[in-house]
Amino acid sequence: MAGENSMVKIFDTTLRDGEQSPGASMQREEKLQVARQLARLNVDVIEAGFPVASPDDFEAVSQIAAEVGNLSDPPVICALARATDKDILEAARSVKNACLPRIHTFIATSPVHMDKKLRMGPEEVLLTIDRAVTLARKNVRDVEFSAEDAFRSDRTFLARAVRTAIEAGATTINIPDTVGYAVPDAVKDLFRFLIDTIPGAKNIVFSCHCHDDLGLSVANSLAALEAGARQVECTVNGIGERAGNAALEEIVMALRVRKPWFNLETRIRSEEIFRTSRLISSVTGMIVQPNKAIVGENAFAHESGIHQDGLLKAKDTYEILVPEQVGVLGGRLVLGKHSGRHALNDRLKAMGYSLSPEELERVFSRFKKLADQKKELYEEDLEVLLTEEGSQSQDRFVLKRLHVSGGTEIPPTATVVLERDGVEHRMAGLGDGPVDAIYRTVSKMTGTDARLVSYSVKAITGGTDALGEVTVRIDGNGLLSIGQGADTDILVASAKAYLAALNRLERKKTKAGRLSSISSFDSEKTEIQETS
Ligand code: KIV
Ligand code: ZN
Repeated sequence: MAGENSMVKIFDTTLRDGEQSPGASMQREEKLQVARQLARLNVDVIEAGFPVASPDDFEAVSQIAAEVGNLSDPPVICALARATDKDILEAARSVKNACLPRIHTFIATSPVHMDKKLRMGPEEVLLTIDRAVTLARKNVRDVEFSAEDAFRSDRTFLARAVRTAIEAGATTINIPDTVGYAVPDAVKDLFRFLIDTIPGAKNIVFSCHCHDDLGLSVANSLAALEAGARQVECTVNGIGERAGNAALEEIVMALRVRKPWFNLETRIRSEEIFRTSRLISSVTGMIVQPNKAIVGENAFAHESGIHQDGLLKAKDTYEILVPEQVGVLGGRLVLGKHSGRHALNDRLKAMGYSLSPEELERVFSRFKKLADQKKELYEEDLEVLLTEEGSQSQDRFVLKRLHVSGGTEIPPTATVVLERDGVEHRMAGLGDGPVDAIYRTVSKMTGTDARLVSYSVKAITGGTDALGEVTVRIDGNGLLSIGQGADTDILVASAKAYLAALNRLERKKTKAGRLSSISSFDSEKTEIQETS
């Protein structure tokens, strides 16, 4: 247990903490798609969501539990719950159909959080922990407890909180650096102190959960593992609240490349890393920075003459890992215009996807269209088709047709046909440029007052016929939303991206309304006082 074996559990929280990234949110079908890919990546635990946040979150967790939680050799499916009866019972209900269900309950232990947010005294927090973990254990065998803001907590009190959770039956104890305040030596020191001094600590799994406010989340996570933690909580591409969470791919590859140093291992199939990264980027709209370690576009690019010369002589002069290890294929050609359904299906299976006959039919018809526009199709192109397949089911606005005219002599004009709540609408409008004409027309048709914050375009593969991928960020009265769209025609990609951002904004508005009504602990505080 704590510190004694060499196996590190990877607890992925992309669908929960990652989804809390400003601007990112996923719809149910996208969450399922991500969970399937996380299972292919072979993570140990999927934190599928926070079921009490909204009926949609509850449904997403339940579906992931029922489907991905029942694969052969399934991951643990975990649901987050504050330390209240209502949250815990909802979490239990949401994961009940998984083979390996887990409830993750948390409460803050730092003075600032206890005084100012919870308005609870330390003794009341301890009672709440005992009650919450006991209730969670009555519902599932696998219970994780987190002491929120652990690194700004008094360590003697933190140890009492952890001890209370262990005595009430917690099987994993998570020590989160909620505000990204810790530094590596302090992390080691705290983990060693807790593991060495708390009775029973050696029989449970200690976990770390580091945020990246000071850019130290991966270093802090590795320090926790060196000090005996055997679960690490992380997200793909490091997405998450504010500056994000520790990046899964960086932790996994650090442990792999520096195995002689750490002497630790994970079950991750590293060849799935790049594909997972791309999927997360396209469903959340959060672009991966080009110089991002492991999955950035430039992570394996060598620019300077000296480096290129060295590489030609021997790869290991400048490469500590090869791109193929993390699934970077460098544009592998897959299929062409004349490939049929079976060839497509076989290729998708080889890529790890299994589609229902109806899904295959839809993807095949899009594949044919794309093959008409593009000479060569790469795995990256197929990934885009699959992402689109998973993302349109719950959209309020869907692009049906687009015609744009412009040039040096005529003003840019866009004619847009879109489906709004199932009914087709058509409108034409002018703009300062073709994209502006599209966006002004779509704004009128959807009645949005959202402001365009940024617009960028990049090619997915090489060549002038490559799919162009457009990313936009919009601001709807303080709510940020991101959307991506891909097409061989960048004007169509621009329209798709804008509509994706508007659809995401619609969902965020609904969710924000619900979340504001659950952000306080007051009602639960009353409940605890009455019953204790
Ligand atoms: O950062 C944090 O403290 C969390 C907890 C809910 C574990 O995300
Ligand atoms: Zn967090």
